[in-house]
This record gives sequence, C-alpha cells and structure tokens, in this order.
Amino acid sequence: MDNLISLCAEADVPSDAGLRVDLPGRPSLAVFRLDDTFHVIDDTCTHGLASLCDGYVEDGTVECPLHAGKFCIKTGAAIDGPVDTPVQVYPSQVVSGRICISNESLRTTE
Ligand code: FES
Repeated sequence: MDNLISLCAEADVPSDAGLRVDLPGRPSLAVFRLDDTFHVIDDTCTHGLASLCDGYVEDGTVECPLHAGKFCIKTGAAIDGPVDTPVQVYPSQVVSGRICISNESLRTTE
C-alpha cells in the first residue's frame, strides 16, 4: 500500500468496541480489533447519524446504537435490522505498531 495514513496505535484499539478516528475533511472512521486483526470501516451508520463506535460488538459484528442495525465488521455488509446499505471498508495494515490505510482509499467529505 502506498501513501499510507496512520490512524492509531494497535494498543489504542479496544477488543470490545471500535476506536473512532477523525481526520480533517474525511469521513469519521471506526477501527475494530477482531482477535488479532484490525478492520477499518466508516464510523457513521448508513441508516442515520449514529457512531458505530458507540455500538455493541459481538461475533464479528457491530450493532448500531440508534436502531440496532447490524454490520459485519470484516466486510461492511448490512446483515440485520433496518440497514440495507453496507458501510465502506478500508483495507488496512499494521506498520510499526500503527494501523494504517491507503490515502487513495479514503474519500473526502468536502
Ligand atoms: S441509525 Fe443505525 S440503524 Fe438506524
């Protein structure tokens, strides 16, 4: 992956919730830890203005705190509740203990 953006340290990501990362002019991101792998998705639910980092994590899914829509953390797929649009997933890698994504994969919000 070229042109990487560092989001956070591995140690910053809890095992039972997402870590919200806000970058200027970019969508808010949610970094999740599943076992020892890390996954980065859009933090905002596709059904409304709710932060998935405030949601409930179980069995590789995150449940939106607002209406209980459920997403697969690995694929972003909408799998239960009122959600039918997947959340964006960003391929990530760990570089020197930090979770990174490609700058090219990240759209702007401006
Ligand atoms: S805002 Fe997330 S399910 Fe409605």
